Amino acid sequence: MGEPQTGIFTQIGPHHHYLEFTIDDGVKTATLKSTLRDIHAAALHDTQTLVIAFGRDLHSRLSNGNAPEELRDFTEIQGIDGISAPATQRDIWFWIQGPTPDINLDVAMRISNALNGTARLDLEVLGYAYHGNRDLIGFVDGTANPKTDEDQRNAALVPNSTGGSFLLTQKWKHDLKAFNALDVSQQEAIVGRTKEDDIELEGDAMPADSHVSRTDAKEDGIALKLWRRSSPYGNVAENGLYFVAFACNIRRFDVQLNRMYGVTDDGLHDQLIHYSKAVSGAYWYVPGASELSEILS
Ligand code: HEM
Repeated sequence: MGEPQTGIFTQIGPHHHYLEFTIDDGVKTATLKSTLRDIHAAALHDTQTLVIAFGRDLHSRLSNGNAPEELRDFTEIQGIDGISAPATQRDIWFWIQGPTPDINLDVAMRISNALNGTARLDLEVLGYAYHGNRDLIGFVDGTANPKTDEDQRNAALVPNSTGGSFLLTQKWKHDLKAFNALDVSQQEAIVGRTKEDDIELEGDAMPADSHVSRTDAKEDGIALKLWRRSSPYGNVAENGLYFVAFACNIRRFDVQLNRMYGVTDDGLHDQLIHYSKAVSGAYWYVPGASELSEILS
C-alpha cells in the first residue's frame, strides 16, 4: 500500500486555504505537468501541508488514461420537494493547511501566479477553526469520524492502492438567521446530537430525518464511514461550511448524498438542508504521494 499525501490525515490547522481551478483550453499537457511539478516541489513552511487533487478529465490526461474507473464528475442532484445540489466540477483542487492564514496565503498566491495563463481560479475558500471543532451553527463537527489511524485509512484510502483517495467537496452556505431563530431542542433534532455536550440523540428522541440519521448509513451491514476534514468559512455577511471528505470509494458519497436529498424510497430528507444550501459540488481523485510525483514527471 502506498502512502497518501500527508495533509489528508495531518491535523495541523487551524487555518485552511482551498483553491479550485479550471484548466484553460489548449494548454499543453507537458506545460501543465511542469507547472504542477514546480508547485508540488516548492518548499512549504515546516508546519504546513499541501494536498493536490484532480477532476476526472485532468487526472486521465495526466496519467495517460489511467484514472480510476469509478472516478466521475459530480452531477447535479435533484432531490425531493425541489431541493437540489449543484455540480461545479473543476480540474484541480489545492488544500493548504497551516497554523496561520498569512503563510497559507503566500502559498496560495504562489500557486495562483504559477497557474496564471494556464488555469482559471473558480473558487477560493478560507476556512478556520471555530470554537474548537464547531461549525458556525454551533454544533461540534467531526465527532463520528473514525478514531484510530487504521480506521481512518480504511475509510479514506482506496484498498490495496497507491494511497489514493476519493474526495467530495461542497461549499455550503448557511442561513444562520433562520437556524439561530430555532429553539436549541429543534436545532438538536435537525442535527441529531445535543448542541452543548455533543451527545448523539437516542431512541425516539432521534428523528429519522436528522442529519446524523441520514448520513450514518450502512450497506450490507458495513458502516459507510468517511474521513471528514471540513472547515467553517466566512464572516457576518456570508458564511457556511466548506465540506471536505475523503473516502475509499465514490459510492459512499453517493449513498449519503442521496439519503440527504431524499433520493431514496423512504421519502425522507435531511432537515439541515433547509438551513444550509450547497453552492458548489465536485468529485476528485487524490493520488497517493509517490503516485502524484509519478504522474507529474
Ligand atoms: C452544511 C453542511 C453540513 C454541516 C453543517 C454538517 C454538520 C455535521 C455535524 C454537526 C455532525 C455531527 C457530529 C459529527 O459526527 O461530525 C455531522 C455528522 C456527519 N456528517 Fe455532516 N454536515 C454537513 C454536510 C455533510 C455532508 C454533505 C455529508 C456527506 C455527504 C455529511 C456527512 C456526515 C457524516 C458521515 C456524519 C457522521 C454521522 C454518524 O456516523 O454519526 N455531512 N455533520
